[in-house]
Amino acid sequence: MAILVTGGCGFIGSHTVVELLNAGKEVIVIDNLDNSSEKSLERVKEITGKDVVFYKLDIRDREGLEKLFSERSDIEGCIHFAGKKAVGESVQLPWEYYENNIGGTLTLIDVMRKHNVKNIIFSSSSTVYGDPDSIPVTEESPVKKCTNPYGSTKAMQETIFTDIWNADKEWNIVLLRYFNPIGAHQSGKIGEDPNGIPNNLMPYITQVAVGKLECLQIFGDDYSTPDGTGVRDYIHVVDLAKGHVKALKKFDEKGGLSVYNLGTGKGNSVLEVVKSFEEVNGIKIPYKIVARRPGDIAANWCDASKAERELGWKAEYDIKDMCRDSWRWQQMNPNGYR
Ligand code: WQD
Repeated sequence: MAILVTGGCGFIGSHTVVELLNAGKEVIVIDNLDNSSEKSLERVKEITGKDVVFYKLDIRDREGLEKLFSERSDIEGCIHFAGKKAVGESVQLPWEYYENNIGGTLTLIDVMRKHNVKNIIFSSSSTVYGDPDSIPVTEESPVKKCTNPYGSTKAMQETIFTDIWNADKEWNIVLLRYFNPIGAHQSGKIGEDPNGIPNNLMPYITQVAVGKLECLQIFGDDYSTPDGTGVRDYIHVVDLAKGHVKALKKFDEKGGLSVYNLGTGKGNSVLEVVKSFEEVNGIKIPYKIVARRPGDIAANWCDASKAERELGWKAEYDIKDMCRDSWRWQQMNPNGYR
C-alpha cells in the first residue's frame, strides 16, 4: 500500500518522505513545484537510496488527481502538505490563498472519497491558536480568529475536515498543528529553501551567515518576555517528519478525527536563537532591533504530551541541533536547490 504525499517536494514534505521511506513505506509524491524544487527528491534518493514516484500535479487539477487515483488503487492514505504558506503574501493575495488552499483541499477530498480513500493527515499550524490566552497551548486551547488569510485557511481546512468526519465516520483524519519548524536533515542535502527574502527567522539567519543578507532585523524587543524578543516553540523538521510517520497508526486504529500539537514544549526567544546559532557555528550574526512586525504575538509554545501519549512521539532534538543542522544545509547549498 502506498502513501500519497501532496507538496512532497517542499521543506517539511521532503523530510517526511525521507522518514516514510526509512520506515519502509511506499511513497507517491505530487507537487506543482510553485514553491519547491524536484531536486529535493533527487537528494531524498541520495539519502535513502530509494526511488520516489513523482507526478508534477496541482491539487486543484481534478482530472489529474482522478487519473492518479485510478492508476494507483494501492493508495491507502494521504499526507497533505500542499498549499501556499507565506503569512505576509497571504495578506496581499487573499483570493489566491483561499482558492489554492481551500479549493485545492476540497478537490483532493472529493477525489479521495470517490475512490474510497478516507485516510488523511493534514498539515495544520499553531497559528490556529491566534494569540493564546494562556501558554503552553494544549489541543483543547481555543482556536481563535487568525490575523492573516494564511492562518485562516488552516483554521478553515480544520473545520472542513471536522465537518467531513461528522458526516462520514469512515474517515480517519489527523490534524497536526506544527509549531515553528526549523533545522534540516543531518546530511545537509535537504532543507528550507524559501523564495526571495525569507519571512521566517532561521532561513534569514542562515542567509546572513552565508553572506547573502547583511544584517538580521529583530522585530521588537519590548514584548512581555524575558529578554523582550518574541518566544516560539521551535521544532526540528526531522522530529516533525517522524511525527507524521507515527501518526499513520491512526489509519489502522480507525482513529476517526484526532488533533495533535507537534512542538518541543519549550520556548526560545529570538535573541536565544541568535546566541545558540553563533555559539554552535562560531559565526557572528549582526542584528539590529527594529519595530514590531504587525500580527506577531509575544510568545507561543505547546504542551506536546498528547502526541507522546497517543502517538508514542516526542521531539528529540534541541535548539543547538536545529542551529547546527540549519547551517550545514545552508553552507552546503548557498543558493538552496537553484
Ligand atoms: C519567529 C520569531 C518574529 C523573522 C510563522 C507562521 C507559522 C509558521 C511558522 C507556516 C518572531 C522573529 C522573524 C525576522 C525576526 N509558518 N523574526 N526577524 O511568525 O512565529 O510563525 O512561521 O506554517 O504559521 O505564522 O515564525 O520565523 O516568522 O518568526 O525578529 O527576520 O522571529 O518576530 O518572534 P512565526 P517566524
